[in-house]
Amino acid sequence: MAQVSGSADVPDMGRRQFMNLLTFGTITGTALGALYPVVKYFVPPSTGGAGGGVTAKDALGNNIVVSDFLANHNAGDRTLAQGLKGDPTYIVVKEDESIANYGINAVCTHLGCVVPWNNSENKFMCPCHGSQYDSTGKVVRGPAPLSLALVHATVTEDDNIAFTPWTEQDFRTQEDPWWT
Ligand code: FES
Repeated sequence: MAQVSGSADVPDMGRRQFMNLLTFGTITGTALGALYPVVKYFVPPSTGGAGGGVTAKDALGNNIVVSDFLANHNAGDRTLAQGLKGDPTYIVVKEDESIANYGINAVCTHLGCVVPWNNSENKFMCPCHGSQYDSTGKVVRGPAPLSLALVHATVTEDDNIAFTPWTEQDFRTQEDPWWT
């Protein structure tokens, strides 16, 4: 049967193909979307480290070497490094001059400023709206509603620091972590 179409219209076959393409594209997109978590599960994290962790890096993007780091830092220091998802994360040097087994995410839980460490006050003090956190990152003054997030910090055999997600109870509050 002859098909009638206006000269300005897309010819019927063309339109059908176009619609097929659209449908195919949509289905493919949906299928890929559904597959993504599966694929992601089987592909190891590119940054290496156990359980989706990253190696702590300095401001220049170099891996922090623990022996060098400890030679240049004192007990009680809190030093910013690049952490999980690129978040600024404090490495804590304990009183016995070893690296603490936790790192502190420096992003203020109020509106996201990076919170500096104030050594003389022994607190993290946010310059934006005055929130304060104790030496472990536990909130002690608002308006910040929550303590700073934690990560695990582990010294590796390569003399680096691996940051991995902290999914257990928050040791400062005995509550489930709000950041997971
Ligand atoms: Fe830190 Fe507001 S962003 S107090």
